[in-house]
Amino acid sequence: RNYRSRTECRGDIQRLNASFLAIYESLIPPEEEKEKQKQLMALLDKHVTKEWPEARLFLYGSCANSFGFRKSDIDVCLAMGDADIDKAQILLKLADILKSDNLENVQALTRARVPIVKLMDPTTGISCDICVNNLLAVINTKLLRDYSKIDVRLRQLAFIIKHWAKSRGVNETYQGTLSSYAYVLMCIHFLQMRTPSILPCLQEMETTYKINVDNVECCYFDKVEKLEGFGSRNSESIAQLVWAFFNYWAHSHDYANDVISIRTGSLVSKRAKDWTRRIGNDRHLICIEDPFEVSHDLGRVVDKRSIRVLREEFERAAEIMQYDPNPCVKLFEPY
Ligand code: GTP
Ligand code: MG
Repeated sequence: RNYRSRTECRGDIQRLNASFLAIYESLIPPEEEKEKQKQLMALLDKHVTKEWPEARLFLYGSCANSFGFRKSDIDVCLAMGDADIDKAQILLKLADILKSDNLENVQALTRARVPIVKLMDPTTGISCDICVNNLLAVINTKLLRDYSKIDVRLRQLAFIIKHWAKSRGVNETYQGTLSSYAYVLMCIHFLQMRTPSILPCLQEMETTYKINVDNVECCYFDKVEKLEGFGSRNSESIAQLVWAFFNYWAHSHDYANDVISIRTGSLVSKRAKDWTRRIGNDRHLICIEDPFEVSHDLGRVVDKRSIRVLREEFERAAEIMQYDPNPCVKLFEPY
């Protein structure tokens, strides 16, 4: 620890802030990418409505929640109205239809955890996954997008954290680390908990949006344009927030007892949710409550080995933020 602590130096923080903002800007998808996505959606829509006039297509995930990087693939949900359909059969049919058009690598993966059709559109260069009736994902995509409109620091923070997680190899659910969706929930929760808070808790406010999906009642305040300036009493910069975020997960979070919950805008106890012991494969070693499927812990993929990897990465990042003269190099160093 030869370096001065960063708290001693204001210039340092300002330079670091500029570096983070430059990284954020460099990851934002350009407008023409959005245009290409729309073009591909229009093509898919044409095929789908011809076969199933009642069906509708929705974008979800990072291409629609405002937390997507440039050159991302897109996630599409085919909503069939009828809940009792045979998804595999629909996907096989869909794959057949799409193969007849100028699309490449069309494949139905009917036995995946979330069954999909994959394809690549050579005209736009975009790859895409299409699932059936995954409407909760469409709704949580809207919730995340609505949060991102309230204070730009959410989008900035989440971009930096996602970029860090991808660089450090801790954004791999099949290896027991966390999904991008989980990291964004961590960022929203973190900004709800600042004093003064930078984000409100939309699900605790007056209901202006309400929908029942798969027997889950989803409701929250979605008139977010009315919340402009909500976070302005808090003047923390992006560099300070990244630093505090890593510090929180490295040194302050109570892994043994707490669940983070954007639904309540606060911490919930593991005991209250009966998440204190392992049930099946759910170990609850880091607990992140889904905003709508409240029995669903996004940390369920984390096991005894990967929790150590994760916590060591949080500690490493906090250390770099505190002592490294040029944190942006080390922080995003490939693992
Ligand atoms: P990148 O592709 O890494 O940029 O991120 P992404 O936002 O597309 O995230 P991810 O691939 O993790 O998830 C895609 C979408 O699926 C998310 O935005 C959510 O809407 C949804 N999703 C992912 N995991 C879960 C989950 O465990 N539960 C629910 N309900 N939805 C999920
Ligand atoms: Mg995705």
